[in-house]
Amino acid sequence: MKNKFLKLIKRHGTPLFILDHGKIRENYRMFKENLPRVQCYYAVKANSHPEIIRTLFQEGSSFDVASYNEFKQIYGYIKHFEKKDKDFYIWDKIIFSNTIKDRDTLRKIRRYKPLVTYDNLDELMKIKEHCDAAGLVLRLKVPDSGSQVEMSSKFGAEPGDADHLIGQAFDAGLVVEGLSFHVGSQCTHFDNYAAALAITSDIFHAARKKGFPLKIVDIGGGFPVPYDAQVPKFEELAKLINAECQRLFPEDIEIIAEPGRFMVANAAVLITEIIGKARREGKVFYYINDGVYHTFSGVVYDHWVPNFHSFGRGKKEVCAVVGPTCDSFDKVSLAVQLPGNLKIGDYLYTENIGAYSIASSTKFNGFEGARIIHI
Ligand SMILES: Cc1ncc(COP(=O)(O)O)c(C=O)c1O
Repeated sequence: MKNKFLKLIKRHGTPLFILDHGKIRENYRMFKENLPRVQCYYAVKANSHPEIIRTLFQEGSSFDVASYNEFKQIYGYIKHFEKKDKDFYIWDKIIFSNTIKDRDTLRKIRRYKPLVTYDNLDELMKIKEHCDAAGLVLRLKVPDSGSQVEMSSKFGAEPGDADHLIGQAFDAGLVVEGLSFHVGSQCTHFDNYAAALAITSDIFHAARKKGFPLKIVDIGGGFPVPYDAQVPKFEELAKLINAECQRLFPEDIEIIAEPGRFMVANAAVLITEIIGKARREGKVFYYINDGVYHTFSGVVYDHWVPNFHSFGRGKKEVCAVVGPTCDSFDKVSLAVQLPGNLKIGDYLYTENIGAYSIASSTKFNGFEGARIIHI
């Protein structure tokens, strides 16, 4: 593997973001094989690179978008590549899953009759006024403790308010098509899924009893990536979801999901170069040509703990790895086991960096960020 990396470095330079589309296809197929009843709406926010969209579209994926720009990107792509003789049905391909949408966005997407989520009354009234052609999915607040990124402090209706929010929507002349939740990103407490499905089922059946014909259950994202050996297996989670869906919901409803990191996290490696070295209070500091304002943005926004591997060998010690900008905040990790004898011009590589990385990279200090190549 190191020789392959060295060849790529020679050709493309560093920092180099290597995206493996075979791995993305493998992840998608694994998802579908283990959750045959669930349609995948890839969460574009995890990594919106057009080549990823193309790979997943070709596999049969649908998409979860968070903004008008993501919506346009995906809509345009599908329009272009879907067979010319076949007009696609937008709900089959796109869900707008950001529960808060500004008025302008709602006005712009109205003509597409999209499927959108909401979780409060103000949003409902905003949708009524600016996008009354939309189908609605009510997002519920569910347990998310222990997930790498918790969601429920910002999103989701209290289950106790759901009945009212569904009724209000129908009273306003809108149609609630289903319910959704998100158990938090990188969810390793599978009980959270079980609890979320049970909460959703109670609300689903209560609504149907009242005559509201809900027909979609959206189980969100959160599917865990095997970053290390402690992460419980996705296959186990899939078994639980399959059994609970069969037990709790009728056969004829649609179950959809919005996996983000699961599709792309382990499909990318980043190679960086050591551009500076210092010893501070006894600890070796490696200055590399990528940092938290760029491909390592997940350290800040995704609570991600990056791994580092060196090409050269040597006695390992606790080192710091820091980014290239003039900001002292730009520290990627203050405790990495690396050989202390690495030199300026040596390379490091980081695995599992495909999700929430280049998606939130900036050009701070004038650094362009990593070059992206596809294998
Ligand atoms: C609404 C929604 N759906 C799906 C996702 C993707 O989550 P994950 O990457 O954990 O699969 C997110 C992540 O923020 C989200 O906010």
